[in-house]
Amino acid sequence: MLYSGIKDKTAIVTGAGEGIGYAICELLTMAGANVVLNDIDRELADKAAKVLDEKKIGSCLSFVGDAGNVPTINKMVDFALQRFGQIDFVVPNAGITLFGDFLAFTQESFQQLMQLNLQGAFFLAQRAAKEMIAQGNGGRMVMMSSQVGIRAYHQLSAYGMTKAALRMFAQNLAYELGQYDITVNAIAPGATLTERTAEEQPDYEGIWGKLNPNRRVGQPEDIAKTCLFLLSDEASHINGQTIPVDGGWTTAGKYPEDLV
Ligand SMILES: NC(=O)c1ccc[n+]([C@@H]2O[C@H](COP(=O)([O-])OP(=O)(O)OC[C@H]3O[C@@H](n4cnc5c(N)ncnc54)[C@H](O)[C@@H]3O)[C@@H](O)[C@H]2O)c1
Repeated sequence: MLYSGIKDKTAIVTGAGEGIGYAICELLTMAGANVVLNDIDRELADKAAKVLDEKKIGSCLSFVGDAGNVPTINKMVDFALQRFGQIDFVVPNAGITLFGDFLAFTQESFQQLMQLNLQGAFFLAQRAAKEMIAQGNGGRMVMMSSQVGIRAYHQLSAYGMTKAALRMFAQNLAYELGQYDITVNAIAPGATLTERTAEEQPDYEGIWGKLNPNRRVGQPEDIAKTCLFLLSDEASHINGQTIPVDGGWTTAGKYPEDLV
């Protein structure tokens, strides 16, 4: 393994029964970390954790529950401490995407987004930071932002707000927690092919790949590799940054003729 400082560490990754979170757990366990794999879907969580645990490099245990619910977050951290004795990495990856016209967007949808995408990340980071400070060995956190938190899109005003907030949250926490040798960064994935996005759009690669200068969509492994780097010793001096992993999507400006 190229990166150091991962083996024998303990990580919590939320929303990891499939998609990007699962790919992060896979790389972490392959590198010898012990992982608490969270998902709200029991079947997905248990199956994913079993597959990774059976590879017998790092251990992987499932924790089923809503990653936006604060009592559940506290139970999840207690579980990680009981089973693995420490917390070194947290990746509040669970997030929902709700599309909707700004003028018709409901309070219920807004609150759903805020609860998982922001409350979940905030209180997992808060509880984990307390444990990391008490342990005295530093720690690492990676927020899951989005390309949609950098640029504006129709139908995504509330989701975009949450993803932009996560970038600022990483910046704030870097400033607050740097003195404890805790780094907090964010990743901003572009269009990434997961079970969910493939279901939403059968020709996902064909349609979304065109937006990227490299003419392909991201794979969960593209995001997971960046996450592993940010969690490693090699990234110890990177703090408060957001890394777009989007094939160059955010770099692309448009001329009027590109719009037709
Ligand atoms: N896929 C993309 O194109 C893309 C692009 C930019 C950012 N992101 C962000 O990356 C993260 C992961 O994206 P994805 O596409 O892999 O996710 P996804 O929608 O496939 O969900 C992954 C898992 O999260 C679980 N989940 C849903 N609600 C949960 C909750 N309340 N508590 C715990 N688990 C829950 C689901 O059951 C699922 O197994 C999200 O925060 C998303 O906003 C994704």
